[in-house]
Amino acid sequence: MAQLWGGRFTGSINELAWNFNASISFDKRFLEQDVRGSKAHATMLAKQNIISEEEKKLITEGLDSILEDVKAGKLEITSKYEDIHSFLEANLIDRVGDAGKKVHTGRSRNDQVALDMRLYARGEVEHMADLLNNMLVTLLDIMKANTETYMPGFTHLQKAQPVTLAHHVGAYFEMFKRDLLRMKDIRERMNYCPLGAGALAGTTYPLDRDYTAELLDFYGPTLNSMDSVSDRDYLIEFLAALSTVMMHLSRFSEEIIIWNSNEYRFVDIDDAYSTGSSIMPQKKNPDIAELVRGKTGRVYGDLMSLLTTMKGIPLAYNKDMQEDKEAAFDAIDTASNCLTLFTDMLRTLKFNKENMEKSAMMGFTNATDAADYLVVKGMPFRDAHSVIGRLVLHCIDKKCAIDDLKIDELKSFSELFDEDIYDAISLETCVNKRLTVGAPSPVVMKKVIDVNEAFLKEF
Ligand code: ARG
Repeated sequence: MAQLWGGRFTGSINELAWNFNASISFDKRFLEQDVRGSKAHATMLAKQNIISEEEKKLITEGLDSILEDVKAGKLEITSKYEDIHSFLEANLIDRVGDAGKKVHTGRSRNDQVALDMRLYARGEVEHMADLLNNMLVTLLDIMKANTETYMPGFTHLQKAQPVTLAHHVGAYFEMFKRDLLRMKDIRERMNYCPLGAGALAGTTYPLDRDYTAELLDFYGPTLNSMDSVSDRDYLIEFLAALSTVMMHLSRFSEEIIIWNSNEYRFVDIDDAYSTGSSIMPQKKNPDIAELVRGKTGRVYGDLMSLLTTMKGIPLAYNKDMQEDKEAAFDAIDTASNCLTLFTDMLRTLKFNKENMEKSAMMGFTNATDAADYLVVKGMPFRDAHSVIGRLVLHCIDKKCAIDDLKIDELKSFSELFDEDIYDAISLETCVNKRLTVGAPSPVVMKKVIDVNEAFLKEF
């Protein structure tokens, strides 16, 4: 056990308590952030003449050499240390002697860990934005190729009105676009540097916090030292945004699972993203989509865990806050794996356009348009609704579509039917006539695609 706080103690800590307290098994993830933050801190200390230039040089080089050795596998991060901060300081002192003992001047582990977490989360927010961007590019490709691929649109999972694949996928484009904008938003709000807040009340050393913030690419220093060491709002926002990403992925997964079912056959999932059964040879299961749906609950759980951890903590730092890490890491790892895999699966997904179109034809998705046809010919809408209702019942009986009925048969339901009915209720017409902004007609859809393409270029 190599601890940073020996002086005050006469007895030694219970082993179970040491392990319970230690965080190195998971905060070793902060190696690079801790090195980066410590180098910036030392650089600022030297500028302020709190340490000498020579000491700063020793500290910086020492930290770089530790990082290099860990990366090269020459130095192991072991549970002998309580956390990544102790590991780095102890090794720095081993390597550069007294200069290493000065790196913690005007700093506490409380502002140190607050900085590490913020640097780490900022990088992950940016990474998540990149992954969302890849998803959007993939969706836009599908949209561009399918403005005239007809399929049923559903409400209550019942066939409702015809749409196109571009339109359906375009709905997800809008969801993931908002997710991407949320990442950008979170980054803006979190981009302030907590280093220099000390344990809770700042420090008596003449630190230049603006300078440290600048060195670490923050907009500036945080403005209240107690808040700086105990704020995890930005993490909560991030996990809430990840939960929303997962909710969107889960809905999409559910659709792909349905579309992949024997009854629908709208899509074929590439072999690379499906698995077989150990007993039933015919099976090709959509496991990846199911797992994405399943892992969504886990990310929600991480968000709940963090919110609950924070709710009873008095100002300022309390050790409860160490619990932020595993929840955040789990949510970030899970969401980033799901987003990556799902995008790849989508890119290789085959759409069975014929089946989609057939399904739209056979599901009376043109019933609203048939009623509208009678309205245009002079029948009040409520009456038209009832005529078409009876017509649909008749078709269900005959196992055919409205379009399959001969004109005489149609006329027996209403004299207003004429030869032009067939064109009026074709899938193409039903879709093409929906011309309001946001509707599925290819003309409108292409405009939306252009707007979204410009959005992606700008991003
Ligand atoms: N491992 C701690 C955490 O993650 C680091 C901060 C420790 N500070 C302290 N006063 N014990 O929160």
